[in-house]
Amino acid sequence: MSIAVDNVTFAAGNTLIVNGISLSVEKGKVLGLLGPNGSGKSSLLRLICRLRKVRSGVVRLGGSDIALISRGDIARRIALVEQQATTDTQVTVIDVVRLGRTPHRGPLSSWSVRDDAAVLDALTRVGMQDRAGQLWQTLSGGERQRVHIARALAQTPSELLLDEPTNHLDIQHQLDILGLISKLDVTSVVALHDLNLAAMFCDSLAVLQKGEVVAAGSPEEVLTQELIERVFGVRAHVQKSSVHGRCNIQYMAG
Ligand SMILES: Nc1ncnc2c1ncn2[C@@H]1O[C@H](COP(=O)(O)OP(=O)(O)O)[C@@H](O)[C@H]1O
Ligand SMILES: [Mg+2]
Repeated sequence: MSIAVDNVTFAAGNTLIVNGISLSVEKGKVLGLLGPNGSGKSSLLRLICRLRKVRSGVVRLGGSDIALISRGDIARRIALVEQQATTDTQVTVIDVVRLGRTPHRGPLSSWSVRDDAAVLDALTRVGMQDRAGQLWQTLSGGERQRVHIARALAQTPSELLLDEPTNHLDIQHQLDILGLISKLDVTSVVALHDLNLAAMFCDSLAVLQKGEVVAAGSPEEVLTQELIERVFGVRAHVQKSSVHGRCNIQYMAG
């Protein structure tokens, strides 16, 4: 397993935010994290990259307990695209993407051809290669999101964590970004709100509710009419997709 979360608990004070979660993702696959606001998706992503420490349980990367991996090794290996990532406004697009190379560079090593190649490749993958010199503050919300994803890709991670990466994106760019993530040779965990996009692009899904996993499996196994009504409070009609294990959801008003 590339990522394995084993009975992990996280609390703020006396409030349990992540309550005994176990899940795993095979190398190169995409796991979608679903769940209502406040269900613990962002907290779980932070635990997986050790931005937060687990209260109990273990997170393993490639079989090793992350509590025992050095911060530098984690930074070279895992990239996180946060929901509300902030960036200094006085910088250009390429400056932001170059930050992704930081974990790979020693304190005295100079910028290498390899760093340049990783930055250009990342910009190209998100379709922002022609905007390298543009000031961050002049970008639209969707463009900023794509640049943050490029920064994560420039890090050349083997595991990529994304917290609602399609927020602020128009439908074409939502499809482009999720299509890109699903084709990368990288293990990904993606928190998403759109159940149809999750069913289209994720190999497996885990649904969180109040810090617990209430369903996990293929999109078709997880996204049942009953689960959508119980967890999200919405009536829906679920159709089998022509693609194995996937499905389409049609919401019903009222
Ligand atoms: N550091 C913290 N202190 C107190 N409460 C927190 C903290 N971090 C998260 N929470 C709470 O934990 C719950 C889960 O939050 P979060 O992981 O952001 O959920 P999601 O990403 O699914 O919306 C929310 O009720 C949130 O207010
Ligand atoms: Mg969140």
